[in-house]
Amino acid sequence: MAPSTYYSIDSQSGVALLYLSNPPVNALHPSLLSSFAENMALLQADASVKAIIITGDGPSAFSAGFDIPQFVKTQSGSGAKLPDVNAMLTALVENGPKPTVAAIKGSALGGGCEVAMATNARVATAKSVLGLPELQLGIIPGFGGTQRLPRLVGIQKAMEMMLTSKPLKAVEAKNRGLVDVVVANDDDLLPAAKQLALAMANGTTPRTCALSKTDKIGPPMAARAMVQLGRMQVAKNTPPGMKHPSMCLDAILVGATEGPEAGIKKEAEVFAEVVQHDVSKSLVHVFLSQRLTSKIRGVTDSGLRPRPMKCVAIIGGGLMGSGIATACVLNGIDVVLKEVNQKFLEGGMQRVAANLMSSVKKGRMTKEKYEQCMSRLKGTITYEGFDRADMVIEAALEDIGLKQKIFAELEQVCRKDCILSTNTSTIDINVVGAKTNAINRIIGNHFFSPAHIMKLLEIIKTDSTDKQVILDTIAFGKAIKKVPVVVGNCTGFAVNRVFFPYTMAACLLVDLGVDPYRIDKVIKAFGMPMGPLRLADLVGIEVGVHVGGQFVQNFSDRTYASELMHRMRDGDRLGEKNKKGFYNYDAKRRATPAGRDVEAILAASGAALDAKAANTAAQLRQIKQKVRSFSDKDIVDFIMLPVVNESSRVVAEGIVDKASDLDIASVLSMGFPPYRGGPIKMADLRGAASVRDRLASFAAMFTPVGLGGFFEPCDYLQSCARAGVTLADGRSALGTQMARL
Ligand SMILES: NC(=O)c1ccc[n+]([C@@H]2O[C@H](COP(=O)([O-])OP(=O)(O)OC[C@H]3O[C@@H](n4cnc5c(N)ncnc54)[C@H](O)[C@@H]3O)[C@@H](O)[C@H]2O)c1
Repeated sequence: MAPSTYYSIDSQSGVALLYLSNPPVNALHPSLLSSFAENMALLQADASVKAIIITGDGPSAFSAGFDIPQFVKTQSGSGAKLPDVNAMLTALVENGPKPTVAAIKGSALGGGCEVAMATNARVATAKSVLGLPELQLGIIPGFGGTQRLPRLVGIQKAMEMMLTSKPLKAVEAKNRGLVDVVVANDDDLLPAAKQLALAMANGTTPRTCALSKTDKIGPPMAARAMVQLGRMQVAKNTPPGMKHPSMCLDAILVGATEGPEAGIKKEAEVFAEVVQHDVSKSLVHVFLSQRLTSKIRGVTDSGLRPRPMKCVAIIGGGLMGSGIATACVLNGIDVVLKEVNQKFLEGGMQRVAANLMSSVKKGRMTKEKYEQCMSRLKGTITYEGFDRADMVIEAALEDIGLKQKIFAELEQVCRKDCILSTNTSTIDINVVGAKTNAINRIIGNHFFSPAHIMKLLEIIKTDSTDKQVILDTIAFGKAIKKVPVVVGNCTGFAVNRVFFPYTMAACLLVDLGVDPYRIDKVIKAFGMPMGPLRLADLVGIEVGVHVGGQFVQNFSDRTYASELMHRMRDGDRLGEKNKKGFYNYDAKRRATPAGRDVEAILAASGAALDAKAANTAAQLRQIKQKVRSFSDKDIVDFIMLPVVNESSRVVAEGIVDKASDLDIASVLSMGFPPYRGGPIKMADLRGAASVRDRLASFAAMFTPVGLGGFFEPCDYLQSCARAGVTLADGRSALGTQMARL
């Protein structure tokens, strides 16, 4: 059924009950809003109606807000036309002839909360939540929320709720003035709403119109001071280039100083502007794409049903194994943890206990839940209990021989239907399973550290992996509250592969004489949680050497083999691990630039590049000159566009099911800033042609010294740029041309 509203009238009492209906969360689709306007007009004009209750259809929501896929249509100019919602809310809900009450069960968020605030009173069940989280999508409230919320809860609290996007639970909402009555049980909701509606209809209880309230706004001078405090908070917490939080405050301020009509007008202007910003397009893209990663063509639409993973056996109780075990027991899955000896086993079990205990200490878990989780964990130094396992996750050392031996043993000790998975970060999944006859049930389960916290689960399928096994692994990922992203088998899989140029480009810049700390600062300002050199310290310089070597070997046409990481390792600068890397670390892991401590290493690595390019020394000198005068934007392009280039290859090769899967994987693993959408979305917002041209200019600059290949725009990027299609749509848009790539 199309999203709409429907109503009934209780002829005895004269109370009409209007339902917002668009299951499961009654999202405010344009057709629902049109139906809402029509039915409100009918009910307000109906002489038999004394009061109107507005409520949500179904058990879970009043309304969770505006229908988000509609934003995408609005942003591309193809959205359905909306009725004038603000005018309708003011005329028919807030100030119509009959009083209105919102009866709230579940969430009243965003547009849903704005509809509720326009009614004359709100009754909510104790478990309900109300809030305006629009800013997380790069927009601002657009149905009067910036005006009504400050008038109901005060400017300070309203700003806090909008800037943090955090909703209030019903009881706090009542204490703050956002809700009038809280009822304990769902069954009490409509009777309480009816009572209040009739009391307003017969005049025994006054009607409140939020937009006309002034008591919580204060005089203009006080409002200005309050908003100024909000601006300071925004300046401190908002990345540069993100304008919508301060524009939201502009709308609040206009309303508070010039009156609600001016405020509503300002809100509409700001909304129309911010909805077209790249920030909003990116955040909406991330929001919607995250839900799609677990839909894989040919697998999740194949009619198969996932088998539950009730017991998981884990090999290795080190950093990763213990984190994975924690995630499993936390989500009701039994775990058998295997280690090489009793001492290591105890260490692994203790790490799981410590992971869980840290939640108890922070008050996020009860002691009972902790005990319950620990009771699901069994340790072994043999394969005892592996016959129970529905899935094995191998997290032993990154050693091909060891993994092959383990998998051959697993084939002997596990059931024939048990999924055999590996957490390898670099080894080809086919190679891991080479010594078995079980390749159809072998799959990669690539977690990110810390495994019980990081949201991404990169699932690596091979050409031989059974659909059922892929489906079960996706369901397992969801069961342990991860976001599963299914990728193909290749060097580095998806995430590590697209980010190898991130570190390599930084090493090249350092070898050319750019200050490493400037690089990290610029990339952090771009929005990454840390720059590439700080990240190298965190991951460990030895790991960097190992993984970097794999890329140089497998992608020799487009890698830069710097000596920097090798020289850091040889100089015992291993990163956070030994508190000495590009930064020095104190006992609390606080980083300070190592500066002079690494000067000689940086110089030697730069000299190695000089020596390799000895035949083209003059050209290298010219390049160094140019690079040293790079602006911050040049540095960002130099480091991030090779990442985009490799991302394009991953999309072209079909390593990911959808281009957006790669964006989500990048956001959830590397902390790629969601407000930039991920490498593919960022490139598409800029335009494939612009990305191609910039990469081509770097390639031209470096070709004389033999390093142009690192930047050479890949065929797919070039094809998309030529055809004027996005990288996200290129595979389908280029059709047969793609087959030749
Ligand atoms: N550390 C990371 O950030 C990270 C991220 C993703 C994937 N990985 C991968 O996960 C795997 C484990 O990495 P880690 O960082 O946890 O290593 P780790 O050294 O902390 O732990 C490995 C554990 O495996 C145990 N082990 C070795 N052989 C075993 C066997 N036959 N049976 C049972 N236990 C055995 C070791 O005793 C050790 O405790 C590696 O393949 C690694 O590449 C690591």
